[in-house]
Amino acid sequence: APKPIIAPSILASDFGKLASECQRIIGDGADWLHIDIMDGHFVPNITIGAPVVTYIRPAIEKHADGTGTFDCHMMVAKPEQWIADFAKAGGDLYCFHYEATANPRECIKLVHDSGMKAGIAIKPDTPVDVLYSILDDSSDPAYYPDMVLVMTVEPGFGGQKFQARCMPKVTALRERYPDIDIEVDGGIGPSTIDVAAEAGANVIVAGTAVFGAKDPKEVIALLKATVAG
Ligand code: DX5
Ligand code: ZN
Repeated sequence: APKPIIAPSILASDFGKLASECQRIIGDGADWLHIDIMDGHFVPNITIGAPVVTYIRPAIEKHADGTGTFDCHMMVAKPEQWIADFAKAGGDLYCFHYEATANPRECIKLVHDSGMKAGIAIKPDTPVDVLYSILDDSSDPAYYPDMVLVMTVEPGFGGQKFQARCMPKVTALRERYPDIDIEVDGGIGPSTIDVAAEAGANVIVAGTAVFGAKDPKEVIALLKATVAG
């Protein structure tokens, strides 16, 4: 199985000192930073755009082993529209929603053309089999996603309750695609990581559970150890 990656969601951090929050959490052992982009259309909330990413990029070095990866979760209505901006801002992984585009394969290609890795996300009510035609066809790497994100809450807000009903989708993906990075996002923490890890997720997003913890370092280590098995 692919290696465990812990990606704290900076949505739960103090935006007044975002760059130092990012540095702090990387110092506490985070692998990636999960950056939630919301446009008020795809989801009923607004967060930040590419200009803010530009400002935090110099604070975080991306290493060859992937540490410091900017994992941009694009909860936006028109994912194709922001690819160039996020590539320029220093995004490393551009994860868009399957539900937001008429042509996911083309969107993956556009992301790759920009120099970023591509992820594809599904909401809790979206069946997993919509992804099979994309994931079954590995004939051209330009069209092949680098990661799949299975949302475990309705996108839009941090601090929601983990929806275990999404786990069979993770199990199905892991069975069918043993090597792909599978990310889970929403309500993940020490009390929900076991089921997510058991199902086969290896990229773990956690906002509230990490930034709200007294000792984030301890929580990150626990999440990672659980996924490593
Ligand atoms: C929800 C976001 C999540 C969220 C996770 O729309 O995509 O990344 O910030 O936060 P927690 O871990 O608090 O549910
Ligand atoms: Zn997210």
